[in-house]
Amino acid sequence: MRLLTVCGSLRFRSSNAALLEAFRRVLPATVATEAFAGLGDLPHFNPDLDTEPLPAPVVLWRRAVERADALVISTPEYAHALPGSFKNALDWLVSGTEALSKPVAILHVARGTTWALDSLREVLKTMSARIVDAACVSLPLGSNQTDVETILARPELRMALLSSAESLAEALGQPLGKR
Ligand SMILES: Cc1cc2nc3c(=O)[nH]c(=O)nc-3n(C[C@H](O)[C@H](O)[C@H](O)COP(=O)(O)O)c2cc1C
Repeated sequence: MRLLTVCGSLRFRSSNAALLEAFRRVLPATVATEAFAGLGDLPHFNPDLDTEPLPAPVVLWRRAVERADALVISTPEYAHALPGSFKNALDWLVSGTEALSKPVAILHVARGTTWALDSLREVLKTMSARIVDAACVSLPLGSNQTDVETILARPELRMALLSSAESLAEALGQPLGKR
């Protein structure tokens, strides 16, 4: 199983990135993971640019999505919506085939509102990606619990991340295996 984690935040100390890193660390070694790092390099989406030759960062983004068996997404909410840079990245997938039927797990940092989460679900549905509900988890992270070690130190969070990975593996028909 090969997973691509995608963080909707560009921030260096992003709590969503920490959550995705914690997710990667609970996985058995049999699972290959890649953390997409090129979100900030993507040009502003413009259908006029969506022609050959595509901008290099777009090629890298589409290839990363294509070679993954599934995506694991975690994003913050900005002004009751998805961060613009992340929505921009999703827009670059709309005309391609890479995300069609692609299984997706959403890791949500529960902080009270779900505008971005609801919007993400709607966008993914519109793109014909396949949201794996059983693998989507909402995790209560306090504002002082946003680094990888602190997340991994909480057994209930580790269990929730592992359970998400197991549900994703099940949806892919590929057993997760042992750590
Ligand atoms: C410009 C801006 C707008 C924000 N708007 C919201 C919001 O509408 N709702 C919310 O719950 N949090 C909002 N936040 C808080 C972020 O979602 C929160 O800080 C989150 O942890 C950032 O994710 P990160 O740690 O992965 O960068 C906002 C933060 C910024 C910088």
